[in-house]
Amino acid sequence: MALKKDSLDAFKESHDVAVIDTAKKMRVGFIGCGWIAGAHLESFVKQPDVEIVAGCDLVPGKAAKFFEEHNVEGVKTDYKDHLDMLADKSLQLDAVTICTYNRQHANCAIDALNAGLHVLLEKPMCVTLEEAVEILRAEKKNNKVLSIGFQPRMDPNMKKIKEIVESGVLGKIYYIQTGGGRRRGIPTPFGTTFIEDETAGIGALGDIGCYSLDMVLNAIGNPKPLTVSGYKSAFFGTRPDYYPNHPEYAEKFGVDDFAAAFVRLEGDIILDFRISWAMNMDTSGDTLILGTEGGLRIPSTECWNGSTGGPMKIYHQVANSQVETVIPEIQNNVSNFDMKIRTFLDACKNGTPAPVPASQILYNQAILDGIVKSSELNREIEIEIPEI
Ligand SMILES: NC(=O)c1ccc[n+]([C@@H]2O[C@H](COP(=O)([O-])OP(=O)(O)OC[C@H]3O[C@@H](n4cnc5c(N)ncnc54)[C@H](O)[C@@H]3O)[C@@H](O)[C@H]2O)c1
Repeated sequence: MALKKDSLDAFKESHDVAVIDTAKKMRVGFIGCGWIAGAHLESFVKQPDVEIVAGCDLVPGKAAKFFEEHNVEGVKTDYKDHLDMLADKSLQLDAVTICTYNRQHANCAIDALNAGLHVLLEKPMCVTLEEAVEILRAEKKNNKVLSIGFQPRMDPNMKKIKEIVESGVLGKIYYIQTGGGRRRGIPTPFGTTFIEDETAGIGALGDIGCYSLDMVLNAIGNPKPLTVSGYKSAFFGTRPDYYPNHPEYAEKFGVDDFAAAFVRLEGDIILDFRISWAMNMDTSGDTLILGTEGGLRIPSTECWNGSTGGPMKIYHQVANSQVETVIPEIQNNVSNFDMKIRTFLDACKNGTPAPVPASQILYNQAILDGIVKSSELNREIEIEIPEI
């Protein structure tokens, strides 16, 4: 197939990228050819060691049109679904990228792992904790690379948060406030797959809540969540006047557009969380990490574009004076999305750990799931995570 190859010079600036062995090609298939698949394709075609050999979509003809519109030739697309594509052994696939809506994450990931393939799975990992556990079991059984599509992890400013925490400058962390979100930003530009229960399963929680949870959980070393008291609502998505051009979307809306939770984490840490696709407020606040020696403020962004919303600040005490240290923003010259694809390929080829291991996202999913369940029960619940 013909691949467009842009310059890869930008990757050289990153220490995370291994030397690319172009003689060893990865044969990649696409599961789901919708909106985000376009970003995946653009990144995959930049890689000099990738052959995109197949793609499938549940909507007949959508996969063929998708590759045609992106000028990527020679891709087999005559499959009715992912199982049909996975059964085609003539493809000799090494890996798949799963770009389906949330409700189709778990089954596609499990089927691909059981077919012996490496898997890049879009975020959120899935919808429920039970699904997450089954995905991790399939990963363990098949011993393949499974990476979850959290590209903000690649951002040097996000990495800096973890570095600050690990430096010890904050002392013992005891309270975190995180979340944020949008004043008006229910994602319906390409239809209703984000807002229908049967395709999305979770709304703001799964779309952007998982990012803000990952920002803090990853920084503090992924402590286990113990209990959650959660709330979710849908006051905006269910209003016909929210969508002047598509009032009929209101009836289809079956997920959350706002959620909040109070979560106890192992190590006596409190996580105070809220996330919004729509609310009558500009922001629900910055992310705050409070420690015994210092507090870190991470400015919120308007829509969760995968980074910090400005320079971070540490509030601490020096020689009995209350001072603030500004952490300068780091210029990022590499696309986080390209890095998510490149680091996945490197892990597959070099037998190194997944850049965003599913085991690190398990607690994230457990919290999302706990918020939904607690909200439905109207009380706090204990989070129980089965053995993998
Ligand atoms: N990382 C990011 O920045 C980012 C951004 C947007 C969306 N996403 C995630 O990507 C996922 C997809 O979002 P989208 O906006 O592209 O959705 P979409 O609805 O535009 O595309 C999903 C496609 O998957 C297809 N599909 C579903 N199940 C399938 C199956 N079993 N086999 C083959 N095809 C199947 C659907 O027919 C649809 O065309 C979501 O989970 C979303 O959270 C990630």
